[in-house]
Amino acid sequence: MTLQLKPLHPGFVAEASGYDISKPLTAEQAAEVDRGMDEYGVLVWRDQPLTDEQQVVFSRNFGELEQTLIGQMQSADERRLKLVELGDISNLDAKGGMRARDDNRRMYALGNRLWHTDASFRALGAGYSLLSARIVPSKGGNTEFADMRAAYEALDDGTKAEIEGMITEHSIAFSRAQLGFADFGAENADKIRPVRHSLARTHPSTGRKSLYLASHIGGIVGWPVPEALAFIRDLMEHATQPRFVHSHAWRVGDLVMWDNRATMHRATRFRDLEEVRDLRRTSIRGTALTAEQAPVAAE
Ligand SMILES: [Fe+2]
Repeated sequence: MTLQLKPLHPGFVAEASGYDISKPLTAEQAAEVDRGMDEYGVLVWRDQPLTDEQQVVFSRNFGELEQTLIGQMQSADERRLKLVELGDISNLDAKGGMRARDDNRRMYALGNRLWHTDASFRALGAGYSLLSARIVPSKGGNTEFADMRAAYEALDDGTKAEIEGMITEHSIAFSRAQLGFADFGAENADKIRPVRHSLARTHPSTGRKSLYLASHIGGIVGWPVPEALAFIRDLMEHATQPRFVHSHAWRVGDLVMWDNRATMHRATRFRDLEEVRDLRRTSIRGTALTAEQAPVAAE
């Protein structure tokens, strides 16, 4: 079988089929998927239920995996999932019970409702992320994607010239502060230190430019903060107009993969105190800095 791609949002999102991704891919098949990702940015696989191990094997076709949550706010004994490569995108606690309304991990995870790109609060942001649906709620809990290449290309020439070379500062603390969350703990101070990224970035394999935006942005180097945040807000509004956005309604067995170097995403609301949503994420470590780091933030 060869890879079939059926456009769901032309030039941005396609439904992929033709391979059983629970089985190891050949190098040629993996390259085919990479080409599909370059063409679209988001690929949706339906009816491909995966175990955690199969998800890790499939993801490794595309690079080195991030150890997503170990480096963030969870300690090892708070983890529900055994494999450190799996990010737990669920409303469950370590014992499998539903998180309470005031659970700190729930507050932290609510940040995923803001538009973002994965791991842009690290100097090496993520490449692809892959999200596999194990349990989905009866209503809501979609993931919305926004095409940052189309958003860049739709900017007027003056704005494109203005943002060329512009450097933003990203931190997980900036996105969480927008929701009034500040309880990171002193032991996590090094994880919330801002990193720098180019606002206009060039994709390493397609050469296409895109806006590297996220709610993690808390400043522009050399700009007063209110002016920077007002400008970033304008760009976020521009980049998330309906014409650039695709909403994915989850079914059990879906695997959706997106390129964080070309897209933003966010989760939508669902009744998370009443219904379980259990998605598991793997992310590919980025391979190149988009900007020189301030000395203390270099990784
Ligand atoms: Fe995310």
